[in-house]
Amino acid sequence: MSKTLLLCRAGFESDLAAEIQEKAGLAGVAGFVRAKSDSGFVIFETVEGQADDILQKRVQFDSLVFARQWLRVIAHLSPLDPADRVTPIVDCFREGTPVRDFWLTFPDTNEGKSLSKLARKLELPLQKGAKGLLHSQSQDHAHLFLISGTEIWVGITSADNGSPWPLGFPRLRQPSAAPSRSTLKLEEAWLQLIPEAQRATLLKPFQKAVDLGAAPGGWTWQLVNRGMQVVAIDNGPMDATLLDSGQVTHLKEDAFSYRPSRTVDWLVCDMVDKPARVAELMERWLLEGWTRFAIFNLKLPMKRRWMEVNLILQRMQQELDAGGKRYRLSAKQLYHDREEITVFAAPA
Ligand SMILES: C[S@@+](CC[C@H](N)C(=O)[O-])C[C@H]1O[C@@H](n2cnc3c(N)ncnc32)[C@H](O)[C@@H]1O
Repeated sequence: MSKTLLLCRAGFESDLAAEIQEKAGLAGVAGFVRAKSDSGFVIFETVEGQADDILQKRVQFDSLVFARQWLRVIAHLSPLDPADRVTPIVDCFREGTPVRDFWLTFPDTNEGKSLSKLARKLELPLQKGAKGLLHSQSQDHAHLFLISGTEIWVGITSADNGSPWPLGFPRLRQPSAAPSRSTLKLEEAWLQLIPEAQRATLLKPFQKAVDLGAAPGGWTWQLVNRGMQVVAIDNGPMDATLLDSGQVTHLKEDAFSYRPSRTVDWLVCDMVDKPARVAELMERWLLEGWTRFAIFNLKLPMKRRWMEVNLILQRMQQELDAGGKRYRLSAKQLYHDREEITVFAAPA
């Protein structure tokens, strides 16, 4: 019996639970999920008789939409003596192979965030206490997930199959010149959904982009910042400075009827509309070959969000396959996404 702890946005535990249950099942991993509403995490427990790391071996972390990060649990320390938290934590790693470093995380809830000070305080004593157990070439991060000052889940996140950011998202600073906060959604999407090795090849100056539902221009700003030429479609007003850049053509048109005159490199879309309708529009762009890559948001329904998302993505994949377009869809609920997920479509 082994446990995997998966982090998510608070309030999305049942969606992540449904997703991991389904994906584990499809991968032949038998288990069940424990989830508490608004806790910011769920625990998947395999049934007896399977290897400890079977879930990590059979399920790719990147395939999970609602999981921000995961760790294979090796211990649950509770109650932990506040006078010496380090010794019992370090003892958990004496038997196994060396770890690269210690990651200290906590749930993305108000209570969780109040533990960030403790997490910082523990870092140095842990590094010192674990001397001899650390190896810079190791693929394994020792991962400590703090529930309180006296309760810690201890586990491993492998660099091979997990988020590269301990909490599952990069820290991004709002660019002062960007006209809206949603600018960070596109920046995070690029970091989360495009593998690092491909980013510089896929995002290049002088590329052509279309931004559907662009106003006031946070996403357009990101494209312009990368040196691209952008057609921004929206009936609403665009930021004047962006228009002055000379890289933006603003068309006051309906995004559902707009057609590009020739193939563009990037299509991005942040419209608030029915997810199935947006997915169909994206499908048309890809099937017609109007764009090479696409990044778009799908607003989530109120209930059974995983089921809806799964249906839409599966249907979209089937349509693309049937149309002879080999595309790979990757989807994630980003840190900057609220009631939505972000999808990246790239040639497979
Ligand atoms: C969430 S905002 C986009 C914010 C933008 N990504 C940014 O970073 O500033 C959604 C935009 O979609 C536009 N929109 C919604 N439906 C549209 C349609 N059918 N055609 C064009 N624009 C549409 C709205 O006018 C609105 O400005």
